[in-house]
Amino acid sequence: MAAGLESRGRTPAQTRLRRRFLRFVPVRTGERVLEVGCGTGVVIRDLVPLVGPRGEVVGVDSSRLLLERARRLCRDAGTRARVALRVADGASLPFAADRFDAALAITVILHVADPLVVVREMARVTRPGGRVGVQDQDFGVVAVTHPDRDLTDRVMRGVAEHIYAEPHSGRRLPGLLRAAGLDDIRLLTDVYQDTTLEPWTKRFLERRGERAVSFGIVTAATAQRWLDGFTALVARGAFVLTLNYYGAVGTKPS
Ligand SMILES: C[S@@+](CC[C@H](N)C(=O)[O-])C[C@H]1O[C@@H](n2cnc3c(N)ncnc32)[C@H](O)[C@@H]1O
Repeated sequence: MAAGLESRGRTPAQTRLRRRFLRFVPVRTGERVLEVGCGTGVVIRDLVPLVGPRGEVVGVDSSRLLLERARRLCRDAGTRARVALRVADGASLPFAADRFDAALAITVILHVADPLVVVREMARVTRPGGRVGVQDQDFGVVAVTHPDRDLTDRVMRGVAEHIYAEPHSGRRLPGLLRAAGLDDIRLLTDVYQDTTLEPWTKRFLERRGERAVSFGIVTAATAQRWLDGFTALVARGAFVLTLNYYGAVGTKPS
């Protein structure tokens, strides 16, 4: 998982849409910013230059292993001094109320069983007038070229329903922020687009194939035939994958 997060983080189209979302929030110099579900720290390393030397970046994650990796990567990137990383559950944050200028969760909400509890916690630790920002994919709107459309739908939908608490999380984010009592809700829709089968996309599709087999959606032979279909399209210059990302931001009422 750590390798997958870092590979996604390095993919240029992913970097662009992640940074576009941070500008949309926006994150400003000198601010105290919390990221819930920071994983290996891809977003944390983007946040450090945005808040600058007077700012503070705090990351929490429920996985001790991913946080260890994040600590190492932040140290290697020379950003460790202005970063604090803690093991914590987004549903019960170990911070006083009103402590942060902004609280963010990027590709996390779709994994959590009760997203409203997490967003309410993020709002609690954000100061009045501060921002709560959430960004997720929406796996109801993945478009990918393949000669066997029905098989592709079966694999993509079947696996997403098994591995995400809410595969359509992206489109539900504005309503979630409103339900958590936030004001001035804004939505930024962005698209990850790949026409060359980037390493991260390739691994993403391979993992979908592996998981489709392990969940009994297709046989190993069918999964291999499905993956070979993409290879043939790339060779003909006809591969396209798009995946929608929705970023929603709300302000905590004063
Ligand atoms: C897909 S990763 C995203 C990591 C990072 N935000 C990024 O974009 O690279 C989701 C992360 O959320 C964490 N996570 C899931 N549920 C959580 C929860 N309830 N509290 C804290 N972290 C959680 C997982 O451990 C994982 O590291």
